[in-house]
Amino acid sequence: MHFLDHLIKRLAPLRFGLKSQSDTILGVDISSAAIKLVEIETRGEQFNVIAYGVQALPGGVVFDREIVDVKKIAEVLKAVYKKSGAHSRNVAVAVSGSSVISNYIDLPSSLTSKQMEARVQLEADTIIPFPLDEINLDFAVVGQNAFNKDQVRVQVVACQRDYVDRRKEVVELAGLTPVVVDVETFAFARAYQTLINAEYKNPQKQQGLIQKDDVVAIIDVGATQFTFLVLSNQTIIYSVEQPFGGRQLTEDIQRHYNLTWAEAGRAKRKGGLDADYAESMLQPFKNLLIEHLSRCIQVFYSSTETNKIDKLVLSGGVSKTDGLKDEIAKALSIPTDVVDLSKNVSISVSSDRSRLNADIPSMMLAFGLSLAKESR
Ligand SMILES: Nc1ncnc2c1ncn2[C@@H]1O[C@H](COP(=O)(O)OP(=O)(O)OP(=O)(O)O)[C@@H](O)[C@H]1O
Ligand SMILES: [Mg+2]
Repeated sequence: MHFLDHLIKRLAPLRFGLKSQSDTILGVDISSAAIKLVEIETRGEQFNVIAYGVQALPGGVVFDREIVDVKKIAEVLKAVYKKSGAHSRNVAVAVSGSSVISNYIDLPSSLTSKQMEARVQLEADTIIPFPLDEINLDFAVVGQNAFNKDQVRVQVVACQRDYVDRRKEVVELAGLTPVVVDVETFAFARAYQTLINAEYKNPQKQQGLIQKDDVVAIIDVGATQFTFLVLSNQTIIYSVEQPFGGRQLTEDIQRHYNLTWAEAGRAKRKGGLDADYAESMLQPFKNLLIEHLSRCIQVFYSSTETNKIDKLVLSGGVSKTDGLKDEIAKALSIPTDVVDLSKNVSISVSSDRSRLNADIPSMMLAFGLSLAKESR
């Protein structure tokens, strides 16, 4: 289990020293089950999807976010890239989990960014519990020190170098250019704030749907990973990632009905299983998920000063499960939505439009990554 007590004011992408050259960035999510790619063109407040692709990964090539088989993953990325109609070759990928650690230091606000970098390097070994020669380091000023106006609060984020290098290798082997290595939770938050809650940026458009200081929890449930992050006033105040996801249910279906992996996945999405399925398999899975989420919320309440979440936003493939959203809202008494980008994002990919619409809940991380440049 990974716990990040981020307090991030500026959701800038981390670059770990990489440099960008082109206008758009391909957001590439290398998940446990698939590679997802998206390219977004931004014109003012308008977001337009200009390329998109998803392709399943063979089993065992990614394990618990660790890249096991660089070559196979690069092959899949190359194929997704070709089919997607992407314009840019610049890629943003993400790291997460126990490979990432963050901490804070306070530094004099008078320092230039070069001086700040030198100080961060100097102090890193006291605040980051990894050996310095095994990590990549990045930092961002996140606000002022509450007690000393002459100091700024700097967030220092470290990622084990191996994790960063493997992702860079995959991208380069696919013939593309890695320009951003971000942290998953930062990318989720950026996608939410830029694409869903765009009203924040334009007070005239605020129609009372979400108040500026509302506390919103984003819950992404994929095939193997459960991500819970809480935003308050545009800031990540809490995040946790756990091994839980839809694969569990697919495996149960496969075993119980003696199906292939693909058949079990399809049956889950499209139905067609016997009448007993909903009661004996689907409902227990949903209950488990709700229990899991409820526990996350309790831990969040007891470890922060916040004791109310105003809204839950669900993403990830599992968020599409029939009835799940309403059951969560009822069980936890918190208004709940599945991500919906239809208000702020237009789509101009020539093919696969309906597939993209169906895939959108699973694409949040890729969306956040492709916007990585926007907030810097
Ligand atoms: N319509 C649906 N109803 C229920 N479950 C679904 C539906 N569509 C997809 N899923 C499930 O969602 C999961 C995949 O979600 P997603 O694409 O978000 O995962 P991922 O990002 O590839 O994996 P992870 O981030 O966990 O490594 C699978 O378990 C899949 O069976
Ligand atoms: Mg995912």
